Amino acid sequence: MVDISTTIASVKLDSCVFNASGPADVTLAELEKIARSKSSAITMKSCTLEAREGNPEPRYADLIDGSINSMGLPNLGYKAYVEFSQLLNKKYKKPVVASISGMTLEDNIRIFEAFNDSPVDFIEFNPGSPNTIGKPIVGYDMQLMDKLLKAVSKACKKPFGVKLPPYFDVVHFEEVAKVIKKYPVKFVTCINSIGNGLVIDPKTEKPLIKPKGGMGGIGGKYIKYTALANVRRFYELFNGKIDVIGVGGIYSGVDAFEFILAGASAVQIGTAYLQKGPTIFAKVQNELKNIMKKKNYKKLSDFRGKLKTLD
Ligand code: DHB
Repeated sequence: MVDISTTIASVKLDSCVFNASGPADVTLAELEKIARSKSSAITMKSCTLEAREGNPEPRYADLIDGSINSMGLPNLGYKAYVEFSQLLNKKYKKPVVASISGMTLEDNIRIFEAFNDSPVDFIEFNPGSPNTIGKPIVGYDMQLMDKLLKAVSKACKKPFGVKLPPYFDVVHFEEVAKVIKKYPVKFVTCINSIGNGLVIDPKTEKPLIKPKGGMGGIGGKYIKYTALANVRRFYELFNGKIDVIGVGGIYSGVDAFEFILAGASAVQIGTAYLQKGPTIFAKVQNELKNIMKKKNYKKLSDFRGKLKTLD
């Protein structure tokens, strides 16, 4: 038998494949759809203090090998997700994950405190969506990251991790890892969409989405190699002390296998879930199990992080 169970922040997951926070995790009906699927956890949409409508439409588009979005954090406000976590926890036997994306330090503190009294199993702190008009991507501002993580560490009584934007320069990996290591961060999720891409339709001579002159976060296969590099680098920098969750372009068991080889303890599925629906989780899990069988790996720790070298 092949075992693809894992732990994130010491929370047991029956499989290492679950949903990423995203556009289809907003309402209770959407979350119950994930609960009924083979996703091993239920990750909820990033929430803010107040409910938000989000950016003007069209704000999401499927691309041949991925997606572009500038949703602008449409969500029902944190109180709804505290309530949903109670309902989901009662009705389904799988971990519930909150995603917090407060607009200010004070908002984040209030939201984290509210989830302390909820049944969520762990929390993904998402300090910076690339799509909030007028706000920078927080993960690129090390001082602000430090300030936010300090405040959140104090407010949060649940295990928490941080969703990171992609980094492209070796010094930036080291800088952000140094900040993260100062706080009781249990995992990092790599990567958020690659911010501020532009997709143009040559027929109409217009961008595909409306907000920010057409600029939005790129997801799917286009970002897999950047995601793998981020997973690998943080896996090495954290030395197994902080779990790494991989996300970015996972459509198949081979994709998941590559992320685990790079060092991921689990993988999340975002764009592929939007495009393929809830059967994607079982597909990726079964394909991963088949690869492991062929290679005679019995559990994830047999190969996790064990990327070989060319010499
Ligand atoms: C949104 C996009 C993101 O990439 C993210 O991490 C959070 C929110 C959004 O536009 O809603």
